[in-house]
Amino acid sequence: MHATETVLVVDFGAQYAQLIARRVREANVYSEIVPPTLSADEIAAHNPLGIIFSGGPASVYSENALVIDPQVYDLGVPILGICYGAQLIAQQRGGRVQRNGRGEYGKATMSLNDNGGCLLSGTQNSQQVWMSHFDAITHPPLGATTTAFTESAPVAAFEAPAQQIFGVQFHPEVIHTTHGQLLIERFIKDVCKSSAAWTMNSIIETARAEISEQVQGERVVCGLSGGVDSAVAAALAHEVLGDQLTCVFVDTGLMRLNEGTQVIETFEQNFGVRLIHVQAGERFLAALSGITEPETKRKIIGELFIRVFEEAQTQAGEAKYLLQGTLYPDIIESGGGHASTIKSHHNVGGLPENIKFDLIEPLRHLFKDEVRAVGRQLGLPDEIIERQPFPGPGLAVRIIGEVTATKVATLQQADFIVRDELRKADLEHEIWQSFAVLPDIRTVGVMGDERTYGHLVIIRAVTSEDAMTADWARISHEVLETMSNRIINRVPGVNRVAYDITSKPPGTIEWE
Ligand code: XMP
Repeated sequence: MHATETVLVVDFGAQYAQLIARRVREANVYSEIVPPTLSADEIAAHNPLGIIFSGGPASVYSENALVIDPQVYDLGVPILGICYGAQLIAQQRGGRVQRNGRGEYGKATMSLNDNGGCLLSGTQNSQQVWMSHFDAITHPPLGATTTAFTESAPVAAFEAPAQQIFGVQFHPEVIHTTHGQLLIERFIKDVCKSSAAWTMNSIIETARAEISEQVQGERVVCGLSGGVDSAVAAALAHEVLGDQLTCVFVDTGLMRLNEGTQVIETFEQNFGVRLIHVQAGERFLAALSGITEPETKRKIIGELFIRVFEEAQTQAGEAKYLLQGTLYPDIIESGGGHASTIKSHHNVGGLPENIKFDLIEPLRHLFKDEVRAVGRQLGLPDEIIERQPFPGPGLAVRIIGEVTATKVATLQQADFIVRDELRKADLEHEIWQSFAVLPDIRTVGVMGDERTYGHLVIIRAVTSEDAMTADWARISHEVLETMSNRIINRVPGVNRVAYDITSKPPGTIEWE
């Protein structure tokens, strides 16, 4: 069991379930997302301290409306319904939900009734909430009192403390709801009586206890990719495993400037981790020689990576376990919260699923920002913790056409300038990814009265939430000008710079 005190978030299909779970965790209580198809017994098996029903896109009147096993109300566990979740409670518990013909979307002003009940007492009589609903609760569940209302929602909040049932039509998890976090915390602390002991230290201690119990005296191997997830997983495990842990860092020669050295230094010098550093740059370049087709390049890199990793792994002794930086969203996306039954699809450094190891996934309960917080607590440097996503095939997918050592060196220098100027402009946290691309064309220019025929560098910088969609970053002309001048003056062979203004879709973030 990961944590004794767990609040379950039943996901009724809203995009907000993860946000609710995160808000609960910000209140120092562990939370897990579960599907509404669980029976009351299965829910009880999680031994939850409280249950939150999320919002959802459907109407309680629609044909395939998701419902919850009504016996869940008899478990004696406090329940808070949010939006659709609140409507469902009203419908299942003797209240009424109606289509009143006008929905309510966005900011709304809410007034209190009955002093706001347990969850809103002491807050302003008139306050801002964020709404997103079409149907409205017109009568609270039997035995519940209406504690707040808006112009379009006669029952914006209800409470039945004796039955431990609560509901809010608005979304407390979004920041536009003034007292949203307060409400969630009151539910967790005052109603569920949580001790709020899920802190960074307890996360680290629990994860370490689990690792040591699972591994016993066996050997563990971890593929360090240079990204934050595998770095944090390795740092977390190293303290418990010592020399039982061997990290393998395959330097493909296709990483950003100085990246390989930085990973090595962080792990060898700061943590004393046993590390196999494979310098495979030449092998990768040789394998890519003459190859221009993007998918072929990716396949060659993926396969060679595995080969090199396996060779190094043999050197690491017979490892029984593979340590991976799988995150909670990966687990949710693969269909549920039962980590042990899920086949991990998220492989550090592009390792295949058919490598025969048992997995250790100490971050499988955590969201990305929590992993970063753990990394900070463990003393990992900001350069690793704040690192942008980087594709497994590395610079090879940013060099259009054949990959050569000269092109890699050119791109590394240009790429460094792009990121360095963004850092100086204090823009790096607003940007999801920023890098340079080296297309396979040359253009004519003039430098110092001489004709030049040099390379073009494309600057790519995007904003995104999750890389599924992205927009080109509106970097100021001044910053772009500084980048352009510096690249042309400092990077030999480059005489022109362009900025990519394509969003995703229709483009992709990477060029190949
Ligand atoms: P695209 O180019 O498809 O990229 O818009 C979406 C995100 O995925 C990253 N990316 C990769 N990450 N292995 C990875 O681990 C890969 O082969 C790979 N290809 C693209 C890309 O950098 C962006 O963040």
